[in-house]
This record gives sequence, C-alpha cells and structure tokens, in this order.
Amino acid sequence: MNDSQRADDTAQWAALEADAERLRSTSLRELFAADPDRAKSLTLEAEGVYLDLSKNLLDSDVLRHLCDLARTCRLEEKIEAMFRGDRINVSEDRAVLHVALRAPQDQVIMLDGINVVTEVHEVLRAMERFATSVRDGSWVGYNGHRIRNVINIGIGGSDLGPAMAYEALRAYSDRSLTVRFISNVDGADLLEATNGLDPAETLFIVCSKSWNTQETLTNADAARSWILKHFEGDTAAVERHFVAVSTNAQGVADFGINTDNMFGFWDWVGGRYSFESAVGLSLMIAIGPENFSALLRGLHRIDEHFRSAPIEKNLPVLLGLVSVWYNNFHGAQSVAVLPYSRYLWDLPAYLQQLEMESNGKHVDLHGETVSLQTAPVIWGAAGTNGQHAFYQLLHQGTKLIPVEFIGFFRAIEPLGEQHELLMANMFAQAEALAFGRGAEELRLSGSPESQIPHRVCLGNHPTTSILFDQLTPETLGELIALYEHRVFTEGVIWGIDSFDQWGVELGKVLAKKIEPELTDTGEVDLQHDSSTNALIERYRSIHGRPHH
Ligand code: F6P
Repeated sequence: MNDSQRADDTAQWAALEADAERLRSTSLRELFAADPDRAKSLTLEAEGVYLDLSKNLLDSDVLRHLCDLARTCRLEEKIEAMFRGDRINVSEDRAVLHVALRAPQDQVIMLDGINVVTEVHEVLRAMERFATSVRDGSWVGYNGHRIRNVINIGIGGSDLGPAMAYEALRAYSDRSLTVRFISNVDGADLLEATNGLDPAETLFIVCSKSWNTQETLTNADAARSWILKHFEGDTAAVERHFVAVSTNAQGVADFGINTDNMFGFWDWVGGRYSFESAVGLSLMIAIGPENFSALLRGLHRIDEHFRSAPIEKNLPVLLGLVSVWYNNFHGAQSVAVLPYSRYLWDLPAYLQQLEMESNGKHVDLHGETVSLQTAPVIWGAAGTNGQHAFYQLLHQGTKLIPVEFIGFFRAIEPLGEQHELLMANMFAQAEALAFGRGAEELRLSGSPESQIPHRVCLGNHPTTSILFDQLTPETLGELIALYEHRVFTEGVIWGIDSFDQWGVELGKVLAKKIEPELTDTGEVDLQHDSSTNALIERYRSIHGRPHH
C-alpha cells in the first residue's frame, strides 16, 4: 500500500467487512461453545502482561485479517520510522521520540547529528540530583525551611501524566511530602492546592513545554504572588520556591526563575507523551529516582516488544487493531477503560488526552478529509465504583461499548481478602457482560414473570482484560507504553498524524479575544455571533460593566 492509498480501499478492509457481517448474528456464547480452546488461543502473555482477548466479538479469522491490514498499512515500517527519528509528525515537521526518554544510556538514537539518548540521560541525572536534594532536605526554602509541599503547575500533558502516575504510585511515595497538581485556570484550583500549606515550605514546579499556555502562566503568576506575599515582596525568594520544566529558556528567565533551575526537554517529545521526561519531576520527587528508573524500565520493555514482536503476538498492536475492529466495523463510538485499582482512578483522564488528542483527527497525513471514523471517545472510572453508577448501561443499555478491564493479581498491601473481592468483581463483570443472563435461567431461579424482561441481560458485550502481577512503577510503565503504542497503531491504520493537535488552537485564540471583552470597563464593540455576544453582555451586566 502506498502512502496515498487508504486502509478502507484495501482487500483486507473488505475481508474485515465480510467478517463483521458473518459474525453479526453470532454471540460470544456461541463462539465459546464452538471452540473449547478459545480462552487459551486468544490470551497472550508477554513481558509480564496477561492479555485476554477471548471475550471480544472476533475469531481467529478476524485477527488474521486485522494483522494483514496492519501489514498492508506498513505498520512495521512505520514503527521503525518512529524509533529511527524520522519526522513522522508531518504537519509540525517533527520527529516523535518519546521512546528515547526511556532508552537505556548505551542506546544510540541520532537526530540531526546528535545522540538524543545522551541528552536525555543528562537531564535525568540533573532531575535525580534535584529530587534527591528536596527529598533529603538539602534544598531548602528562602528562609531555610525544609520543603514539605510540592505543587506542579501545568495543564494537558504537563499535568495529566505526572498527576496520574503520582496517584498510581502513591504507595511508593514519600508520605511526608504533600504533592498536589494545579491545572485549571479556575482560581479554585490554586486556592485548594495551597489551602493549609505554608509558603515557606512549598516548592512550585512550573511545567510548560511552550511556556506560552495561558492557564499555566496565569496560575504560575498567582502562585508567585502567594509566595511573594509571604516573603513581603522579596523577589529573591522566587528562585528557591520555583523551578521550571520547559523547552523555552527565555520565557522561564522572563518569569524570574533561574534557568539553572530549569529542566529541559525537546520538541520531539509531544506534551501527552512527556511525563517520563522532566515533566515527571514532581513524580520523581514523590517516588524517588530509583522508582522513577523502574518506571522507565517498564516503558522501555514494552517499547522493545512493540518494535520486535511479530504483529500476531504484539500486545499494543493487537490492542490497537481490536480498537479499530469496533470503531470501524461495528460503529462503536466509545471505549470504557475500567481499572480495578483505586490507584488508577485518574487513568481514564490521562488516556483521554492520549487517545483523543492524538487520534481525534478529520484529515489524513496529506490533509485530505478522512473517509473513515477516527478516535473513539475514551471514558471510565475505577472499579468497583463504576458498577454502582454506569454499569447498568453497559449491561442493559442499547449502545455497543467495548470495555477494557485493567487489574492486578496481587495487591500492593493486602487488607484481609479485599483484593480477592475486588478481582472477583472484575472477573464477574467480564463474565456477566459476555454471557448475560437469559429468561429461562431467571424463571428457574424463581423470578416473577413480570420482571423477567427487565432482569434479562442479553450479554454479548465485548471486553478485554489486561492484567499484571502487581501495580509497581515498572508495571505502570508497561501499561502506559501499551496504550501509547496502541494509539500509534490506530493512527497508522487511519492514516492520520497522531502527533499534532491543531484542533485545540481555535478555542485558545478566541478566549484571548473574549477575556478583555469581559473585563473592559468602557464600552465594547462585540463582533461575535448573537449567542456569544449575549453571553458576554450578561457577564458584563452582572459585573456592573457597560452593556447593551
Ligand atoms: O491543549 C494543547 C496542548 O498543547 C497539549 O498538547 C499540551 O499537553 C498542553 O497544551 C500544555 O502545553 P504546554 O506544556 O506547552 O503548556
């Protein structure tokens, strides 16, 4: 397939359409009954990951055709191009090398004549020195107080990754430190994050790849005022209470942060792929450099697997292909990600950016309108909470929603039999969604006839189960790399640029225009549509500003 051919113009696509038709009237019950080995043949294990695909609406022919499609779309070649540092982010003309962030020191990845792995490890060493100095108390605040609170200021990729990973690895964190995250430009975020904290013991890490993000810079300004208020306007305090993570040294210096306390990264790291770069500084301070290294090892292990495992056994590739199967051949609009771990409660939000900012695209690599559906909506919540909220819709609603369960065979710190109960629920939900409960079974168990239609669960709801031994920094790294490369796989099939995000620009531009229209105390000439004008007028009237 050449670069201008579309996946939906291929023979493999047609074969998959025929598969979808063939399987439309076949249930998971029938698929399991017809093949006693189904669970075994559709479960893969590699790198400590247990991936059960058997409760999906597919069979070995579907998988074969999906893998053929991946080959036809030259997935292997495109994976290699990413690892080689080709400028696969075509619309921004950038390499995409987050895999270099977790490459071991002796690996060589050349970009424009520079081995980027060397640079990555230099920054990692600087982060380690700084994290250690905060953790052991040798980095102190302006008046010599030990730092006890670390607040990350950032948004999008400069927030979601470190915040998710901090929550996920809380059990490995230094519990004497308070670690918080501020992202929203809503002042409530900063007020809540600083509530009860002593400025003299608080360190802010301002994370912004561009140093040009309105929310982050506004919050950083407000945080600086909070610090300066405490130190009676003495700007020399800023240097001890603020460090920066950015690619923009000038912006950082202009803010008043000493660039000696700036941790850099590179334009070849996309924001949503950045949390294991210096963007993870708050995380490293919380969990310590050793745990951070373990996280990188886990990520790297899956990188290597993604690069070298054959398509049929390649876990992230299969996850991506199964996602394409529902998205493009079954019309599924969303995917529910349901981690059975309280520590992973923030994972769906992180995955929303990863999937939806990467693959929510309407044109292909050549700028032509796509002829197929791109990214699904990602949503979810930690089990078992979701069971008492939205699972009703999964079991008896009218929508096809593929579910991804994530679980761990062992708890980090077992409390009685709670972990068994948690996992029993995860396994039970997958079983119930697949096989349901029929009218006859209900009748036999004495259900009143009038209730039977209400209680029937038709089943046939597809689920994938992803399991690891235990939630550790290493397995978290594996989990994240699985999803990153799954997103990559989908993007290759859909023929889109998974690494730009032009769609977020317009709203930012308009907000910049509207903000002075809200605050201006004189007459304003509003040139928006009638709805937007009315909203602005109402806001102005409530704040006593001239309006019509
Ligand atoms: O929302 C768009 C976006 O550019 C994201 O891709 C990025 O993660 C976020 O804004 C924050 O950007 P920055 O790190 O440059 O402040």
